[in-house]
Amino acid sequence: MESSEAIRPEKMGPMVIKETWNTPGSIVSWERSENIYICRGECGGIVFIFLSDEMFRMKVFRDRVPDLTTTAAVLVESCIPHLFPVEETEEQLIFTTSAITLFLEKKTFIIRVENVQGKVIMQQNLTSWNPRGANHAEYDMQPDSHFYGLGEKSSFLDKRGEHYTNWNTDVFAPHLPEIEALYESIPLLIHMHDELSYGLFLDNSGRSEFDMRSHGVAFTIGCATGALDIYFINGPEMKDVVKRYTSLTGRIALPPKWAIGYHQSRYSYMNQQEVLQLARTFREKRIPCDVIYLDIHYMDEYRVFTFDPVNFPEPAKMMAELLELGVRIVPIVDPGVKKDPNYKVYKEGVLDKHFCRRLEGDIFLGEVWPGISVFPDFSDSRTSEWWGDLHKYYTDLGIQGIWNDMNEPAVFNDTKTMDLDVMHFNNGRPVTHEEYHNLYGMMMSKATYEGLAEHLQGERPFVLTRAGYAGIQRYAAVWTGDNRSFWEHMAMAIPMVLNMGLSGLAFSGPDIGGFAHHTSAQLLVRWTQMGVFFPYCRNHSSIGTMRQEPWSFGEEVEGILREFIGLRYRWMPYLYNLFHEAEQTGMPVIRPLVLEYPRDPHVTNLCDQFLLGESVLIAPIYRPDTDHRSVYLPEGQWIDYWDGTVNEGGRHILAAAPLHIMPMYIKAGSFIAEGPLKQYAMEETGELVIVHLYGAKAEVGFNAAFTLYEDDGHSFGYRRGRYSELAVKAVGDEASIKLSWSYLLRDYEPHRDVLRFALCYPFFTIAAVSGLSQISMEQLEDGREGWVQKGNKGGIIVQVGDAPEGGEFMISAEKG
Ligand code: GLC
Repeated sequence: MESSEAIRPEKMGPMVIKETWNTPGSIVSWERSENIYICRGECGGIVFIFLSDEMFRMKVFRDRVPDLTTTAAVLVESCIPHLFPVEETEEQLIFTTSAITLFLEKKTFIIRVENVQGKVIMQQNLTSWNPRGANHAEYDMQPDSHFYGLGEKSSFLDKRGEHYTNWNTDVFAPHLPEIEALYESIPLLIHMHDELSYGLFLDNSGRSEFDMRSHGVAFTIGCATGALDIYFINGPEMKDVVKRYTSLTGRIALPPKWAIGYHQSRYSYMNQQEVLQLARTFREKRIPCDVIYLDIHYMDEYRVFTFDPVNFPEPAKMMAELLELGVRIVPIVDPGVKKDPNYKVYKEGVLDKHFCRRLEGDIFLGEVWPGISVFPDFSDSRTSEWWGDLHKYYTDLGIQGIWNDMNEPAVFNDTKTMDLDVMHFNNGRPVTHEEYHNLYGMMMSKATYEGLAEHLQGERPFVLTRAGYAGIQRYAAVWTGDNRSFWEHMAMAIPMVLNMGLSGLAFSGPDIGGFAHHTSAQLLVRWTQMGVFFPYCRNHSSIGTMRQEPWSFGEEVEGILREFIGLRYRWMPYLYNLFHEAEQTGMPVIRPLVLEYPRDPHVTNLCDQFLLGESVLIAPIYRPDTDHRSVYLPEGQWIDYWDGTVNEGGRHILAAAPLHIMPMYIKAGSFIAEGPLKQYAMEETGELVIVHLYGAKAEVGFNAAFTLYEDDGHSFGYRRGRYSELAVKAVGDEASIKLSWSYLLRDYEPHRDVLRFALCYPFFTIAAVSGLSQISMEQLEDGREGWVQKGNKGGIIVQVGDAPEGGEFMISAEKG
């Protein structure tokens, strides 16, 4: 006999359901309450909150009372509602700030934003949702629309014609042009059209989609659960958008200097002897290095917060020797905690209810490296504190940096992650994993960062993460996960990291040399040449692949890598300045040309070259057996870093690039601060600074200014004012240059007696320097004041005492 099971609906074949999408209809009422505008439609509505003249939030609601909570991406202090005048006409509600006007059509809920000149910046035509809770909004797209941002996405720089999903995903070897979801989700889209840029940030930690492909004259933003909670961020320049977006979601914390040195990793350095030998080899070979990573094999059967008793029997002794060599350790810590009742972390976590559970109470179990594992619920501050505190285990050993991996969270199952019905306590407002997913990794890194900060007592922590959500930049650097040793992946790393920078992730980079597959001598050279100018600089490779430490391919390769890694260390003052700028303003360390030259049509999708700060143009070689490449130089004059020749911008040039050269150009009229070559960032070899000034032709005017920021490089003292700012200025005409400097602040005393200025003025023959005599190179090295001729025409080094009150000199130049 059959039961009722025989007539289960599924057995009746597929049901055809016509999908209905609801819209809010027309506005039936609106009200202002505590500077929040609630506009109700026939069905649901939209809340508008102005956060400044340039930024407002629009959140769609379907219930009677709108829910105004945000995710942890948004800084509470940036979310204060401001009052702006609103005018009501028959057809519209019109909100006006000093920068924008927002028109809300009463009949249709169409939203249009105009600038003060009446130019349309953004138009949202449709807001809708389906009965299953998915949301959707549609925006105008112009013939000249270009799209940027979206964090860690593959493919080219300009995202026009692309479709992306935000759902943190661990896919092995995932860097393919068509992949839609990687490890990080930053739902920020920057839209540039008509010489205007603005940003749309969707604050939703569930699955979301951005489609710039399917609708011809429109692009869409959608989310599968929760609400459409969108922030409009005004430009007009892309830089303004980045600045404002990072004021909303936070900026990077200035890293300790050692964290911006060169890092060496491998899955895995298998034992204590290997790690020590590696560190000694770096020092013997005089290849600078700050960090060695410990991948999963350092642990006792992959139990986090342990060392393997056989392969790493004396971690404290290992750390002591590494400390002498100036090498730091960054161990990996994954979220999966091995299910083992004899393991302290597991036992404590179960007893104190720290692991993610289903609503019914059973702990979610998933398989990762340690076998069956459980996962801390970082949405609960109590658990985050517990987790953070566990890091005392590492800090007691002198460890100041942690590598968070597999924190999407990755689980070895069909969905590759935690089941969607697992619950997150969310500090008393429980949500399903489906709604919370993209926040998991970020909250792990937050707990880690805060735990380290607590135990490091004033030292700056370093956290590296694979997964993250908007705002992750406040806690961690991001690497782009498991790429492969393919030339294509090297090339793709450029737009990926550039867009990450535009999305607030100023501190990021790929595995240099490639993680999976086998690198080659040439690939390692070319990738390292490029990688030393990326914000995050780590060579990492997978188990079973060719070794790719800098000496793995013989002396020629080793020599080239030594030079380029050394250059990163020599440019540390310039680089550190850029990190400081990123902390202050959100500006990325490396930049697509379109950020600096938004009106130049040649650069809207240019992503095989990039800028380090504003002044250095880097043009990597990303194909094998290639010794020339085309380089686009934007407006201005660009001085070839290698031979000092001057190139007029606004055109393409053909650059020669034998294996030991990667084309690099310095913008005429800019300063680069260089320091001594150190073997590790905090090596005590003094803080001599050489301020290089690259001249510009007088007719384009050289009126250059630069401020060098310096601090102790490791503590939080700078947040209490313990830093110095040296302002340098050069003003000149065709016959002379006046160079002056002064300390705007000197609450940190750099360890040096002299300052050096190195001038590269290929336009002039230098004749004399006021008040200083010409000296020899030896005298210069001995610390004497004076000047020496260097290289060709226009090159001199001037050395002066580093007096707190600053000073100035004149250079007389013969027009050459
Ligand atoms: C993941 C990481 C990789 C790491 C490996 C082993 O694949 O992305 O960097 O080496 O796990 O921990």
